[in-house]
Amino acid sequence: MNKNLTILGIETSCDETGASIYHTTRGILSNKVFSQIDIHAAFGGVVPELASRNQLEKIHHIINKSLIQANVTLADIDVIAVTNKPGLAGSLLIGVSFAKAVAYATQKPIIGVNHLEGHAFSALIEHAVPFEHICITASGGHTAMYLIKDFGNFEIIGQTQDDAAGEAFDKIAKLMNLPYPGGPIIEKLAQEVNFQDFYNYPRSKKKSLNFSFSGLKTAVLYDLINKNAYDLKTKTFLQPDNIELKQKVSSSLLVCICDIFIQKLELALLQHPDVKAITFVGGVACNSYIRSKLDTWARKKNLSLFVPSKEFCTDNAGMIAFVGHYKAQQGQFDDLMLDIF
Ligand code: KG4
Ligand code: ZN
Repeated sequence: MNKNLTILGIETSCDETGASIYHTTRGILSNKVFSQIDIHAAFGGVVPELASRNQLEKIHHIINKSLIQANVTLADIDVIAVTNKPGLAGSLLIGVSFAKAVAYATQKPIIGVNHLEGHAFSALIEHAVPFEHICITASGGHTAMYLIKDFGNFEIIGQTQDDAAGEAFDKIAKLMNLPYPGGPIIEKLAQEVNFQDFYNYPRSKKKSLNFSFSGLKTAVLYDLINKNAYDLKTKTFLQPDNIELKQKVSSSLLVCICDIFIQKLELALLQHPDVKAITFVGGVACNSYIRSKLDTWARKKNLSLFVPSKEFCTDNAGMIAFVGHYKAQQGQFDDLMLDIF
């Protein structure tokens, strides 16, 4: 199939309810998202039961808003693309069940999209990124590197063995009583002290493309304990008024994680010297400091760095509609047996 298509994309893998309309020649026509951040902030992280309940409450409304903004109706939609894995089972089921119901009622084809493939291709929504390129994806749930050969043709070349990069920001923020999600507040505090590296947290020593962030979290925890700032027994941050400490930890952490990304990209380039570009995607790609450091690094390597707009970095349905679109063009459809595994 190779014709103009209008795709409805639906994303409900975690705590964002997203709906987007993508058109072959006009691109993204709408990209609506309801974020549950405020609902989960009180708990310091996502509560799965609350996430799925809120997905159910919002999905109808968000899809309607997306159709209205794109100035289309369901009758104009050619294909329904929906995130079907990976993610929280209860949340995924809301999107997949809704998509199947709409597909059945309107007799339209359905395509299941892997959330990670959505992130991996999200930089291509707005940029003509040349193939082959390396994608580094970093969010609260996943951190990985991909060699991207073509639309839908990619291989994973490195991934986290434990925590994701965003998870490291979130967990370390929680240690210091900072609000969820940790990334944005850690960036703000780091900026206040000019992104200096005060504590030189451990970088990765392994010559591997895989990541590991749980050791970094433990290193920061024990550094806080040594500084009499954290009590392990009661799990209490003992210096809530010490802004300077929070700034220094945040700044050192951000510089460390950025260094780790560059270290891994250096290694990846040695193994794949012919790549034409780098993309940086996922929620952590909202970070202006890391964006600019990676950009400077890429220029030195004579490579271009492509980063999506922030609305396509954090979880969104635009990336799902985009992947659904090329899958439809490639004739890769699913049926109503589509499941979340
Ligand atoms: O992609 P995303 O919205 O959801 C997942 O799929 O996980 O990413 C959320 C993650 C959180 O861990 C959050 O702390 C991180 O992205 N994040 C940031 C920034 N904004 C969001 N990390 C670093 N700097 C930021 N400015
Ligand atoms: Zn994500």
